[in-house]
Amino acid sequence: MISNPRKDEFRRETKIKTALLGATGAVGQVFMWMLSDHPWFDITRISASESRVGKKYGNDVHWILPMEIPKNIQEITIQSFDIEAMKAEGIQIVFSALPNPVAEKVEPLLIEAGFAVFSNAAAMRYKKDVPIMIPEANIEALSWIEKQGYPEKGFIVTNANCSTTGLAVAMAPLKKFGIKDLSVSTYQSVSGAGHPGLSALDITNNVIPYIGSEEEKMIIEFKKILSVETEIFPFCVRVPIMFGHLETVWVEFEQHVELPDVIDAWNNSANGIDHLPSTPLLPIEYDPQENLPQTKQAFYGVPAGMTVFTGRLKKQGNRIGFALLVNNVVKGAAGGSIQNAEAFVAKYLDK
Ligand SMILES: NC(=O)c1ccc[n+]([C@@H]2O[C@H](COP(=O)([O-])OP(=O)(O)OC[C@H]3O[C@@H](n4cnc5c(N)ncnc54)[C@H](OP(=O)(O)O)[C@@H]3O)[C@@H](O)[C@H]2O)c1
Repeated sequence: MISNPRKDEFRRETKIKTALLGATGAVGQVFMWMLSDHPWFDITRISASESRVGKKYGNDVHWILPMEIPKNIQEITIQSFDIEAMKAEGIQIVFSALPNPVAEKVEPLLIEAGFAVFSNAAAMRYKKDVPIMIPEANIEALSWIEKQGYPEKGFIVTNANCSTTGLAVAMAPLKKFGIKDLSVSTYQSVSGAGHPGLSALDITNNVIPYIGSEEEKMIIEFKKILSVETEIFPFCVRVPIMFGHLETVWVEFEQHVELPDVIDAWNNSANGIDHLPSTPLLPIEYDPQENLPQTKQAFYGVPAGMTVFTGRLKKQGNRIGFALLVNNVVKGAAGGSIQNAEAFVAKYLDK
């Protein structure tokens, strides 16, 4: 499975040098896979925890993704986290797939050093002038980097928590109907807890109706991304699935909405982002078959894992119900971050 079959449409002469922090984790592996043949970005430097410094990526990583490790990344040496070395190597963009407590310390240093930082961690998400960006939903938030001082200074763009990402992508085209009230239940895969993550003894043959801080994140992030004040009511549940978060939603709108209005909005959800190489051919794919979406579709779509799948659409009283599937480690993490960096390059470097 190649990571981006559309890459030839987007080829550029000189690739931009990037660094990846947290390259061996669940999200880091998706970055490595997607960046291994990215048309704009070159993986110039990777790091993980200190004990891995000097080791070859292919030998040392515990690869959990369902495709083989691309050959061209296997020989890359894991290096130390060294800001001066990163500057000397001409790195412009830094992708962060670090755990939150590490990101909290490291990301401000990177901004201070002048890098363009694209992060998956929650550490900086709620700070003023820091966008939580999902191109399908709020690409305009990219200009907040100017409030952070770009181009004179470095900046950070974050992407949302994985379950919020799926919800925000599916709801963005429906925002025009006025979101009055929204309840969501999630069925989240174990890769969402990182690697090694949950103990197999806890999650095998089991469902756990609690994921620390997840519901709070959904409430805050959904409002920040879509600029709405709507109260949302989430339940977040861990299920024994490797990849993909399924979510079921009940929403009431200010306006009268029928099912074809929703389908129409999803089918016309392009947000002017076709020029970004990782934008999916179909950002939202609605399927009327009653047993879809399913988590086995997590790596479906082009590029794989970037589409949000919707289905089970129904109306009861004034409420619209539907189910969605988001790939938590691709669209909900590394892929979203790469797409954000592409939006930055297109708007500010290639103008
Ligand atoms: N998993 C998801 O679905 C998902 C979705 C959205 C956002 N996120 C966020 O993305 C970030 C990464 O998540 P993940 O699931 O990939 O986590 P993970 O599997 O635990 O990976 C963490 C990565 O950070 C490295 N690391 C740990 N401590 C370090 C330190 N002190 N210094 C340098 N590197 C260190 C690890 O290296 P070693 O392997 O050497 O320990 C590993 O490469 C987190 O902030 C998470 O909340 C995750």
